[in-house]
Amino acid sequence: METVVLPAANALTRAQLDPGLDLWSEIARLKREKNAVILAHYYQDPELQDIADYVGDSLDLSRAAAATDADMIVFCGVRFMAEVAKILSPDKKVVLPDADAGCSLEDACPPKEFAAFRAAHPDHISLTYINCSAAVKAHSDIIVTSSNAKYIIDQLPADQPILFAPDRHLGGWLARETGRDMVLWDGVCIVHDRFSERELIKLKSQHSGAPVAAHPECHDGILQHADHVGSTRSILDFVTQAPQQEFIIATEMHIIHQMQKQAPDKTFIPAPGADGSCNCANCPFMELNTLEKLYLAMVNEAPGIEIPEALRLQALRPLERMLAMSPPANPKSAPQAAE
Ligand code: 13P
Ligand code: SF4
Repeated sequence: METVVLPAANALTRAQLDPGLDLWSEIARLKREKNAVILAHYYQDPELQDIADYVGDSLDLSRAAAATDADMIVFCGVRFMAEVAKILSPDKKVVLPDADAGCSLEDACPPKEFAAFRAAHPDHISLTYINCSAAVKAHSDIIVTSSNAKYIIDQLPADQPILFAPDRHLGGWLARETGRDMVLWDGVCIVHDRFSERELIKLKSQHSGAPVAAHPECHDGILQHADHVGSTRSILDFVTQAPQQEFIIATEMHIIHQMQKQAPDKTFIPAPGADGSCNCANCPFMELNTLEKLYLAMVNEAPGIEIPEALRLQALRPLERMLAMSPPANPKSAPQAAE
């Protein structure tokens, strides 16, 4: 059983698009006509962040998808995020601009192998990062995001051993932070795994006093130099509230757009890759989504996420546990309405 991403019948294609079309006003019109809401992750291209109704981290956007009264959710993010929206809001139409927007963590954790991993550790509770397929969620006990994982682990009995998949860097950081016995799946995010410790040390020496804010998907060589480690939302809160003027950002670089909007007088320097450049910090999956494809997805109401009901119900259980065990949403952690 798998999620299906449905193409559109008789779809309007990119080749048929009038190049003079004002996509911004057309998308606004479609939003009204179709009672649609646009959700965007911080890693999306700036124009997708700016046109969205809400921009947030994975937990913010899951909550927004669960709470919306729109008829159509247009998810500017990657496929597992749109899948979560459909699992939580099955009566809504859920579309995403590009059906190929996957995730290296999802790819690293095939459901069959994950089921065998679980079966080999019958005494462990399975905490699974939200960056995985619906089929892997269905085999899990509790889903977590980087913003609620520590909070959820702290609610588990101290002697409860934990299986964590699919991100070994996030899992390793959680094990160190909580002191818990954790068996880790060997997956990585190809964006956060590529930052270079050597180049980061060099950059820090050139910008002394600039705190390093890092996502826990980064490898330990980066995390040990970080002044703040947290989800995208938490990094954004940190840099906007801290008194310093300059920051080094070790996560996908498009979040810097949001930082500049919220703190226009501050400077944000992307953490470097192995050759000293920051090109590594661009998620190749997130960048598949464009304004043009967003427009086409709204016209065609496709690609659309469909999940067999039995699979949806199995994947829903660990997601509902996550929502029940998460810290309460407060105004600071609510998704931001875009201007
Ligand atoms: P968060 O926004 O939850 O921190 O997730 C980061 C990420 O890599 C999403 O793909
Ligand atoms: Fe997946 Fe990494 Fe891209 Fe996030 S940034 S979608 S974890 S590959």
